[in-house]
Amino acid sequence: MKNYVILISGRGSNMQALIDARLPGACVGVISNRPDAAGLAWAAERGVPTAVIDHKAFPSRDAFDAALAAEIEARGAELVLLAGFMRVLTEPFVRRFEGRLVNIHPSLLPSFPGLHTHEAALQTGVRVHGCTVHFVTPSLDCGPIIVQAAVPVLPGDDADGLAARVLRQEHLVYPQAARGILAGRCRLEADRVVWSDDATPPESALRVPAGG
Ligand code: GRF
Repeated sequence: MKNYVILISGRGSNMQALIDARLPGACVGVISNRPDAAGLAWAAERGVPTAVIDHKAFPSRDAFDAALAAEIEARGAELVLLAGFMRVLTEPFVRRFEGRLVNIHPSLLPSFPGLHTHEAALQTGVRVHGCTVHFVTPSLDCGPIIVQAAVPVLPGDDADGLAARVLRQEHLVYPQAARGILAGRCRLEADRVVWSDDATPPESALRVPAGG
């Protein structure tokens, strides 16, 4: 069985979806860079080990990332799932966990990297929006795509409504991607995502939910 950790900074709804999905692996830690992250209490109540590595206690990004990497490795984690982890990771950290570091982003990448993706989608007038689970590379919100989910942008949508529609899909696709990796059916190979199961239907890589 593979061990994985989940890194959070706040609410932790994706973390909850991952843990509730009973993935084929053991969650050996929920790690937050913020002591007040709401998701920590939820995890602790369910007996999942938690840790806080407060970025404010470190003199540099490199020092924080080194402590974070040490914590992850001490727990024996083979897979690192970023779930609303609001820190830019340094290149040495990303390289150290290459192929084992996964993120969820609330847009259909490569559209709308960075923050405020729902506002940007509304501002731009796209008709289709969504979320992306991807392996992490040193560029921000970038990397080989594992799964995407698309939702419609509807007349009258505001950012909160659109965010909620996207979030429902995040909670479906992140466990799907994590399950594929933990089960050994999905991996990063020469900067591309490879699903080893030939029977994997295309829907596994793009969900288009009926009715949003
Ligand atoms: C999600 O929208 C995720 O895609 C983004 O940050 C948000 C985190 O939400 N990276 P939560 O903490 O998982 O509820």
